[in-house]
Amino acid sequence: MSTLTKSEAVDAPQAGNAFLSVRDLRVRFRTEDGIVNAVNNLTFDLEQGKTLGIVGESGSGKSVSNLAVMGLHNPRNTTIEGTVTLDGQELLTASQRELEKLRGNKMAMIFQDALAALSPYYTIGRQIAEPFMKHTGANKKEGRERAIEMLRRVGIPQPQTRVDDFPHQFSGGMRQRAMIAMALVCDPQLLIADEPTTALDVTVQAQIVDLLKDLQQESGTSIVFITHDLGVIREIADDVLVMYAGRAVERGTMREVLKTSQHPYGWGLLSSIPRINSSVDVPLEPIPGTPPSLLNPPTGCAFNPRCAYRELVDGDKCVTERPPLELANGHLSACHLTPAQKQSILTEQILPRLSS
Ligand SMILES: Nc1ncnc2c1ncn2[C@@H]1O[C@H](COP(=O)(O)OP(=O)(O)O)[C@@H](O)[C@H]1O
Ligand code: SF4
Ligand SMILES: [Mg+2]
Repeated sequence: MSTLTKSEAVDAPQAGNAFLSVRDLRVRFRTEDGIVNAVNNLTFDLEQGKTLGIVGESGSGKSVSNLAVMGLHNPRNTTIEGTVTLDGQELLTASQRELEKLRGNKMAMIFQDALAALSPYYTIGRQIAEPFMKHTGANKKEGRERAIEMLRRVGIPQPQTRVDDFPHQFSGGMRQRAMIAMALVCDPQLLIADEPTTALDVTVQAQIVDLLKDLQQESGTSIVFITHDLGVIREIADDVLVMYAGRAVERGTMREVLKTSQHPYGWGLLSSIPRINSSVDVPLEPIPGTPPSLLNPPTGCAFNPRCAYRELVDGDKCVTERPPLELANGHLSACHLTPAQKQSILTEQILPRLSS
């Protein structure tokens, strides 16, 4: 029997062509309770100056996969396999020294919780200047000037005085801006933003997304934007990767995923986008059930215990066979429904509900 399925054929482009290229990434943790297969066979590309949105509920492997890209896992209990290349350089086999040189300089990461990422004991200015001085050899005065310039770029008013504030003197939104300033101070070519707006209210969320978009236009940074809310990245992502239980279940352009999602989980995410522009108060429709434990995930399609469409698939395939990521109606999705079934559910049930 041939071992190369149609899905693998479309899903295995040459490694190393894109600016960031992730191939067949697998991350496993050894825990007291057993092995956690946190990320399985993840493949994606990111071009220079573009934004990839990675979307999925909590526990789907978004952070773990990107911490692997940054080389931030503890090697003692973690096994990482696959290939990750950044601008042609292989990262998974790079030494800690090489990675440290890249981090903060060529690639940087921002997190949901700015308060935890910033030290309470040092001024905002010093924390922004630190990586700049380390990577460029600038002196203190130059570092301070650069910190003021960065605070201005991220929209902090009166940066000449705010540079000497401590993190607790900043509001949540301002701290998030300061963390972005810290991440971008060395003009990294890759920025991984891990739920950077999740803790913020809707207005500030939109401001932070706009800020990242502007900064990207100025400096051509490539961005991986991680979120559980597809609505947040609607304005910024070029491509979208939908993750469920440590795997990619859908991959396509932002437009494709918004307009022609081919996966029941993708439909669930679309239905749970808050509709702020709606004239009536449309309630959020959270996806019923909870994400599975990765210690003991469901057999077959990991989404099957929560899927409203599995009865439409012949036999018990959803429970016995994992669906491969393959082309259906124009983009990659992993679901046993036929392309015709997907299309008719999308047009007859999902899209009308979204526009109601
Ligand atoms: N250091 C670790 N040891 C064991 N399990 C972990 C570790 N870090 C994350 N996990 C597990 O890996 C899975 C994916 O986590 P994560 O990538 O953080 O999810 P999210 O999509 O919310 O970012 C979760 O089940 C989580 O519990
Ligand atoms: S493979 Fe089956 S269980 Fe999984 S999403 Fe498709 S229909 Fe639902
Ligand atoms: Mg996370």
